[in-house]
Amino acid sequence: MHWIALKHALLSHLPVASGLLLPFALIAAQRHGRGIRPWWTVSRYLGWTGFLGILGALVSGFASGRLLGLLPAHRILPPPAWGAGTDALLFRHALLGGASLLVAGVALWSMNRSRKEHESLGLLAMGLGFAWCAVLLMTGESGHRLAHGRSSIAGPALAPTRVSAVAPVPRAEADPEAKTPVRALDYAALEAIHPEPVRSQAHGGRWIRAWASPEAATAYRAGQTLPQGARVVLSSLEDRWGRPGSDGGPLYALEMKASGPALTFYWPRIPMERRPEFGGESRVYWRDGEAGLDACRTCHATGMANPASRSRWRAPRRSGSVSRSGVAPGERDTPLPN
Ligand code: HEC
Repeated sequence: MHWIALKHALLSHLPVASGLLLPFALIAAQRHGRGIRPWWTVSRYLGWTGFLGILGALVSGFASGRLLGLLPAHRILPPPAWGAGTDALLFRHALLGGASLLVAGVALWSMNRSRKEHESLGLLAMGLGFAWCAVLLMTGESGHRLAHGRSSIAGPALAPTRVSAVAPVPRAEADPEAKTPVRALDYAALEAIHPEPVRSQAHGGRWIRAWASPEAATAYRAGQTLPQGARVVLSSLEDRWGRPGSDGGPLYALEMKASGPALTFYWPRIPMERRPEFGGESRVYWRDGEAGLDACRTCHATGMANPASRSRWRAPRRSGSVSRSGVAPGERDTPLPN
């Protein structure tokens, strides 16, 4: 699931590229007369590539929404939201993505109708094809804004409101991490320490993977003091019957700042049954100095936890011999490849 989810950014480029290229082929295919067939083929080829691309982007997008805790367990689409906020942007992005699959169906049908040897591909194919390309590009653009936090057309972060046009710069702009730990969420850009999740009792028995910034990875692996500026993120999955489940858990982050180590705890969507532990909140974002992080300091007083107490519990390979703690007999101390 991790593997698929982390490919969303990569996979979503294919449908966007198809959306950019297809209009030219559709226009070229409008000429009547001999020798027009190759342009039909080009249009159809781009159409089918775009279609396959959407399938990949939808599957990986769904997986990445689940992994980052943006999609609740029982939903295909994120909860409806309107306006200019990130939630609304995510909802629009998912809706557009779904719509692009539906429009793809009719557009492909119109492009693949049988035509006489000398005929153009037809205005219907061009119209529907253009509509499809527009939806594809809008999906891509909203995805870009989600991933990079600002409009791809140069402008302020997210859509400006009337008020912010006159009011002084809002805090969210002065501190890009005021609402979401943007850099921690991008953990896949860091170096993966664990090739597969390990079960961490210290972090609620969840299945974690550690990710370290490249300059810190060697020191982190060796358990040495982290250099200043180092960042380590734990991504986590909830446990499900002793194995990594499909629901995203919180993100834990550590940054070695000049002022000392800074911890972050971020859980964008807490499952219902866990909310009482967080005062009923559906989402928590604790940054350095907040009371919620006090418990973390028992092990993280100086930043990195004692390397000797690192978890080594991997998911058992064979089904069958899983004990309740999720550790198959004899697998307790399987050393991790370094
Ligand atoms: C009981 C001790 C303990 C507590 C409490 C604890 N951690 Fe950890 N933490 C560890 C250990 C041990 C590791 C190494 C990875 C592993 O094996 O789980 C770790 C790893 C981490 C890392 C990766 C960098 C590193 O130190 O290896 C981060 C970031 C982190 N924890 C954040 C947190 C946050 C935030 C909290 C509080 C919500 C927390 N931890 C609570 C023991 C603890």
